[in-house]
Amino acid sequence: MPGTGLLRTKSVEQSIQDTDEPGSRLKKNLSAWDLTVFGVAVIIGAGIFTLTARTAGDLTGPSVSLAFVLAGVACGLAALCYAEFASTVPVAGSAYTYSYATFGEFVAWIIGWDLVLEFAVASAAVATGWSEYLRTVLAYLFGDGVSTTFEIGSVTVNWGALLLIVALTGLLAAGTKLSSRVSMVITSIKVVIVLFVIVFGFFYIKAANYDPYIPPTESGSTASTGVDQTVFSWLAGGTTSAFGVFGLLAGASLVFFAFIGFDIVATTAEETKDPKRAVPRGILGSLAIVTVLYVAVSLVVTGMVSYTDLATGPDGERKTLATAFALNGVDWAANIISIGALAGLTTVVMVLMLGQIRVLFAMARDGLVPHGLSRTGARGTPARATILVGVLVAAAATFFPAGKLEEMVNIGTLFAFVLVSAGVMVLRRTRPDLPRGFRVPALPVIGVLAIGACLWLMVNLTILTWLRFFVWMLIGVVVYFVYGRRKSLLDKHVPMS
Ligand code: ALA
Repeated sequence: MPGTGLLRTKSVEQSIQDTDEPGSRLKKNLSAWDLTVFGVAVIIGAGIFTLTARTAGDLTGPSVSLAFVLAGVACGLAALCYAEFASTVPVAGSAYTYSYATFGEFVAWIIGWDLVLEFAVASAAVATGWSEYLRTVLAYLFGDGVSTTFEIGSVTVNWGALLLIVALTGLLAAGTKLSSRVSMVITSIKVVIVLFVIVFGFFYIKAANYDPYIPPTESGSTASTGVDQTVFSWLAGGTTSAFGVFGLLAGASLVFFAFIGFDIVATTAEETKDPKRAVPRGILGSLAIVTVLYVAVSLVVTGMVSYTDLATGPDGERKTLATAFALNGVDWAANIISIGALAGLTTVVMVLMLGQIRVLFAMARDGLVPHGLSRTGARGTPARATILVGVLVAAAATFFPAGKLEEMVNIGTLFAFVLVSAGVMVLRRTRPDLPRGFRVPALPVIGVLAIGACLWLMVNLTILTWLRFFVWMLIGVVVYFVYGRRKSLLDKHVPMS
């Protein structure tokens, strides 16, 4: 029997049955190839184009390539768990739906709320970055003085970010297939640019730049201290988490951002033709492709210039991949990379928004947020949920400057990964009978390792990030008790088990 109260669960059969409810049915037209493109489209983005250089300059030095490997291993373990869940419960909503089936309504709500950090906050953050690249490209075309922001009184309006979100909301409302095609073209450009960085940059590598591979901790430095220090280095008695081993670990937790997105492949399971095979292939395939590209890019970039040239400037100026080329005197290459980044970030924002829409849709179908948001229109897309997400992300991207948002996105996402990895093990025990298109090998070992790796990355985030995360989750708990718990439609369904 499903539990009661906070622990009431929604059975897997109920979740699958709900997808056939007339009026809230999504089209099933995506293939494994579409999913891989979706994955690569959202995974390669601000992480590699901006975060790599900054992480090398501020935290890790050349060992950023090792940081990518550490983060990639954690993601690979979690990806296996996502793949099993998605092949067992092929419905929209990802970690939210999986938690509903295993841990009950309260944890599901917590996850749904938490995923706003991964999807909506990340969309807004990347859109702000997109606007910055737009400014760079416009300045290249029309000369300096072009801006993608303007002031109304003391408020800065980011029209570049607004433009992007409005356009993408339109595309998403018009249908997933159309968006998927557009994303395929842009994704190809992005991958070509990344390959260009690797191949062309290779000729500028100087071996001396790799020494020291892990720079020693800078004594007396005030960087990464106080609430900006990582929880782990603080617990271990370190004074700063810049450089040294603590810096490397902090770097891995930061560049984790660059891998976010493979789990979104799972959120589209309900719209996939053969989810049991296509979803695991899409998730693991896209993750494998980007891991190789990231390690190669980070090796090349830290070989092209000294890591000290990639440090954030005293005025807050952030270095990017293009910086490494500009410092080697090849400005035209830096410009090509900027245009590629512009294209690349577009698809990232689009797919992140799609992920948020799907989670909101699933929560609305369960009544935890207003039920009307789960209505699908003539095109088979949840138009109302799409527009609401578009408005919220546009507001955030237009009026809030991106600060240390990546870390918030990371902690939220890692928390979801922990619950999904635990959920796979719980579901194997509680519902061994369910057909599984993909099974995690060597469970529970892989599941436990996945949880451990994600928790490890979490404790290597800063104290400030943890404090903000607690506040955000606390607000979520209040909203659940005031609204979701009373409005939940779960008890109105016939229990399936
Ligand atoms: N992985 C995505 C990026 O790098 C979120 O921008």
